[in-house]
Amino acid sequence: MSSRFDIIHKDAAGRIGRLATSHGVVETPTVMPVINPNLQTIKPSEMKDFGAEILITNSYIIFRKDELREKALKDGLHALLDYDGPIMTDSGSFQLSVYGEVEVTNEMIIDFQKKIGTDIGVPLDIPTPPDVPYEKAKEDMDITIQRLKEAKELVKGDMLLAGPVQGAIYKDLREECARELSEVGFDVYPFGAVVPLMESYRYADLVDVIASSKKGLDPTAPVHLFGAGHPMMFALAVALGCDLFDSAAYALYAKDRRYITSRGTYHVDDLKYLPCSCPVCMNHTAEELKKAHNCTELLARHNLYVTFEEVREVKQAIWEGNLLELVEQRCRSHPRMLEALKQMYTYSPWLEQCDPSSKSTLFYCGPESARRPEVLRFNKQLERLTIEGSVLIRAYPTKKDSDYDNVMIFKPPFGSYPQELAEIYPLNAEVVRTPDYESLETAYQNTIKLVELNPKATFTFLMNDRFDHPLVEKLAEFDNFTIVPPKNE
Ligand code: GUN
Ligand code: ZN
Repeated sequence: MSSRFDIIHKDAAGRIGRLATSHGVVETPTVMPVINPNLQTIKPSEMKDFGAEILITNSYIIFRKDELREKALKDGLHALLDYDGPIMTDSGSFQLSVYGEVEVTNEMIIDFQKKIGTDIGVPLDIPTPPDVPYEKAKEDMDITIQRLKEAKELVKGDMLLAGPVQGAIYKDLREECARELSEVGFDVYPFGAVVPLMESYRYADLVDVIASSKKGLDPTAPVHLFGAGHPMMFALAVALGCDLFDSAAYALYAKDRRYITSRGTYHVDDLKYLPCSCPVCMNHTAEELKKAHNCTELLARHNLYVTFEEVREVKQAIWEGNLLELVEQRCRSHPRMLEALKQMYTYSPWLEQCDPSSKSTLFYCGPESARRPEVLRFNKQLERLTIEGSVLIRAYPTKKDSDYDNVMIFKPPFGSYPQELAEIYPLNAEVVRTPDYESLETAYQNTIKLVELNPKATFTFLMNDRFDHPLVEKLAEFDNFTIVPPKNE
């Protein structure tokens, strides 16, 4: 179904993809700058200079204003915005979620989007707020699915059709919604109604919403995270399999005098320095920026530059295979992002299925890294490893190697593995020499599993002061496991 979307490179559940539209191919992951048809701080025709490959605007706003509607119907959406690249249009659903009602039907707004020549149209889905009762979320979701089926019947031709996944914070509803929409077949799957989660820093809940929605979809389908425009969370969302974002944030934050960075947001009046090398920041001091008559526009420009800088950073990380390292760094920007990181790794069994088996070197970034999908994969692979005879388990080279049938290396967070595998991904990881509690925990658990699976082998473990952990006692209980303190070596 999604032959319009080609995946060319993968890391974790993230990917670099190419989405074909009537006005050209879009390379993902990318951000669609939101264009307000009434008010343009930065002209659409300039957006390519920032790195934009596709824009998004609101067909409902155009529809409601006579002057805009007439021009769009007569000359087309691309002429109205003076932009010749791909444009996605939203349907008024967001207004529905804010004002409780809209003056169009699903059929009217789909028909209008077709007539004005939008590249990706959106039906009138219902963005159900996160915390409504389950029954209400289910009712809304069923109406959304009905409307999307209706839209699918109405759309034949060049316009791509988005099928927004709803279901509030109920994981089973999100997955069910995604599964039902997949059966109908849409060109892009936005995950809807996540703005309230992001506004209240509920990033861990956002992780649940993304992961459960993804589980119901074909993994090769393109995904849009509706209303997500802060670069701080791109890496996380991309690692969970999101391909498209939209940013009104660049303009809305600018209006509030806020200066975006990939680590968070500053109020411009708190800036003594400008920690950025974009043209705005290189041509102004912090003082000049604060006092500029066009401060809002300058901030919007800076915000867009850093937004696309982060897009390129994320793409480069996918390319190199260190997206999860980038996620772990970005998630240290805010405690609520750190929660989200931990939540993401509760989905490691799923991530492990998407994750390429070989990449560049894994870098251990902190206790959360012990839950990485690669570490979990190592645990699973232990089942395929059979060891017999005498086994030396050591952390560092020693002269005793030749006394044993097998030599294994102990390396947290993995555990113990045959030394022949030392240079193979992910065991060639760069790790700390003083392992933390979490990585020792995982390494010992995996070593216990190894010993249990190989009762005929006899293990000698060259212990080290840095490796102390309560689980060492558990290992000492095995008859075929001997622990040698370092001084006795
Ligand atoms: N913009 C932000 N969230 C949503 C959503 O859930 N649906 C639509 N159509 N637009 C949105
Ligand atoms: Zn800047």
